Amino acid sequence: MNNESKTVAVLGAGTMGSGIATVMARAGHRTILFDIDSANLQRGIDTVHGFFDKSIALGKLDAETGQRAKDRIVGTTDLKDLAPCEVVVEAVYESLELKKDLFASLDDIVSESTLFHTNTSTLSVTGIASGSKHQERVVGTHYCNPAPLMKLVEVADGRHTATWAHKATIEFMASLGKTSVVTQDRPGFIVNRFLIPWENSCIRALDAGLGTKESIDAAVLGSLGHPMGPFRLLDIVGMDIHQQVATRLYEQLRDPKFFPPPMVERMVAAGDLGRKTGRGFYDYDDTRLFGS
Ligand SMILES: NC(=O)c1ccc[n+]([C@@H]2O[C@H](COP(=O)([O-])OP(=O)(O)OC[C@H]3O[C@@H](n4cnc5c(N)ncnc54)[C@H](O)[C@@H]3O)[C@@H](O)[C@H]2O)c1
Repeated sequence: MNNESKTVAVLGAGTMGSGIATVMARAGHRTILFDIDSANLQRGIDTVHGFFDKSIALGKLDAETGQRAKDRIVGTTDLKDLAPCEVVVEAVYESLELKKDLFASLDDIVSESTLFHTNTSTLSVTGIASGSKHQERVVGTHYCNPAPLMKLVEVADGRHTATWAHKATIEFMASLGKTSVVTQDRPGFIVNRFLIPWENSCIRALDAGLGTKESIDAAVLGSLGHPMGPFRLLDIVGMDIHQQVATRLYEQLRDPKFFPPPMVERMVAAGDLGRKTGRGFYDYDDTRLFGS
């Protein structure tokens, strides 16, 4: 597959979709961001634009390059607009039926050689692929959050993924400046097997009064070499998403360390989901998903 300037689609303009669309546009691909909800779509586009504006303001990108990247992104709520896409990355809600249905609908719209990538955190790649008549083209590509800043992508084949699709995916990831780690189609892949129990431990430590959110974040920053502390990270991830991922991993693996602590349920019930609602562990004026 020629990785120079493709037309690609990202399905779902939420936290991950807007981040992945930023990665695509930055790498030079014409990027169509699709969402069923026009307000979410607009917020996703604003988030992408905000990322490039901030990069320009910080001197990380010259104004012309930033503007060109912004111009590569278009939004749509009409699935038919994705017809010319060579790669489709789905980042919609974590629902097997929803993801399968989307791939099934796309079968009739895009070419047979279009790669289907799924950014699922906990669902089976094989299960999602079963929605498509061409399971051989479906590959799991699990981006880390925030996608524009984190280099790692976990790549997991489904049971019927073809060698050509796997190879093309690894090459495509390299063209995006990502580092691929190949893993298996298993719940949580590699990263979430470690990350979710660790985040749960940090939340339990906060609830038990071992430290404040600030002191626990500072302790992690100062000792483990992470780019951000657990509560800043969870505010970007979204508490609803953390709850969903942790619960699903617990249901599949039956290991109590995955079970979300009660504080997660309290925060979700209160609507304190993190950056996207303006309040999580911390307060935010800017609700763009990976804004300043
Ligand atoms: N948040 C994270 O840290 C993270 C990290 C890695 C992977 N993931 C996975 O990425 C996926 C998306 O997660 P998120 O956090 O971005 O969710 P999100 O809730 O922020 O965004 C989901 C978006 O999907 C849209 N959507 C729902 N149904 C749709 C449909 N039929 N067609 C098009 N758009 C639709 C919604 O309107 C919303 O904008 C999930 O599978 C999740 O498990 C999340």
